[in-house]
Amino acid sequence: MTEAKSVAVIGSLNIDYFTRVGSLPAPGETVCSDSLNLFRGGKGANQAIAASRQGSEIIFIGAVGNDEHGKKYLKALEKEGIDIAHIDSVKGNTGAAFITVDRSGENMIVISSGANSSLTREHIKAKTKQISSAGAVLGQFEVPISSILEAARIANQNEIPVIINPSPVEKSFPWQEIRTDYLLVNEYEASEVLGFEPWNKELSLVRQRLHELRVENLIITRGGDDTLVYNRGDEVLNISTLPVLPIDTVGAGDAFAGCFAARISNGESLEDALAAANCAGALTTLGAGAQNPIPDRERVDQHLEHLAQSQ
Ligand code: RIB
Repeated sequence: MTEAKSVAVIGSLNIDYFTRVGSLPAPGETVCSDSLNLFRGGKGANQAIAASRQGSEIIFIGAVGNDEHGKKYLKALEKEGIDIAHIDSVKGNTGAAFITVDRSGENMIVISSGANSSLTREHIKAKTKQISSAGAVLGQFEVPISSILEAARIANQNEIPVIINPSPVEKSFPWQEIRTDYLLVNEYEASEVLGFEPWNKELSLVRQRLHELRVENLIITRGGDDTLVYNRGDEVLNISTLPVLPIDTVGAGDAFAGCFAARISNGESLEDALAAANCAGALTTLGAGAQNPIPDRERVDQHLEHLAQSQ
C-alpha cells in the first residue's frame, strides 16, 4: 500500500448549540424546545476529523478563541490524533453555531464566527511550506474567503488538487482567480454558484459555465439520491449512495467532503472516492451531532464491500 498523503484543511471550528423543535420558527415567531446539546462542530473541524478517520494525516489551519471552549476543543482534536500546531488560539470567543432541527430533520443554522474570522491571508501565507506538502487542499466558507483563495493559489502553483465546499455560499467568491479541481455542493449551492440549476440545462451549457468558473469537476450531493458529477466528459456520472434512515443530517456533508479529500489525496479514482464519501455521509446521519458519528475507514470499507456484494 502506498503511504497516505496528508490533507490540508483550511476551516472553522465551532461549538454547536443544538436544539430540536416540532416546527422551525417563522420570522418573528418564538418556538420553545425542551432540548439543548453542546457538540464540537464547524465545517473545517468536521471535515478534518472525517479525513483523519480515513487514515490521512491532517494539516489543519484554523483558529479557536482563548476561552474554555477553545482550550477543550484543542485537547479533543489532539485525542483524535490531529496536529494542533497550525490552529491559532486568539483573544475572544471560539466560533459558535446555533442549530435547530425540526421533526422532519430540516434544520436552520446561525453562525457566530468568533475566532474563525481571524484567519487571514497572511496566516495562510505563513503556512505555504505545510500546504505545499499536502496531497489535497480542502476549504469551506466559514472562514474569511481571502484565506481560502490564498490556500488555493498555493495549491494551484504546486499542482495539488483543490477541493472546495462553498458553504455557506458566498456569491462574490471570485472563482476565476483559482483553479478548483473538485467543487462539492448540495443542490441549493450548485444553483447559487452556477447561476442556474445544472440538471435543468443542456450539458454543453453546464460545461461552458464550469469552464468560465475554472471548475474541473462539479460534484452535487443530493441527500439519499445519487451524487452527480459534471466535468469535461460527455456524460453526467451518477454515484449511488447507501440507503439509510437518517436521525440527524448535520455534518453529513462534512463527512462526505473529508472522506472524499482523504481518498483523492491517496490517489483513489474519482468514482471510488465518491462511493466511499457517499457512504461516510450516509453513516454520519445515523448519530447525533456532527463529529461523533463520522465513520472510520474500516467501517466505510465494510459497507462498500457489502454494497458491492448486493449488486
Ligand atoms: O456542517 C455542519 C456544521 O455547520 C456544524 O457543525 C456547524 O458548526 C456549522 O458550521
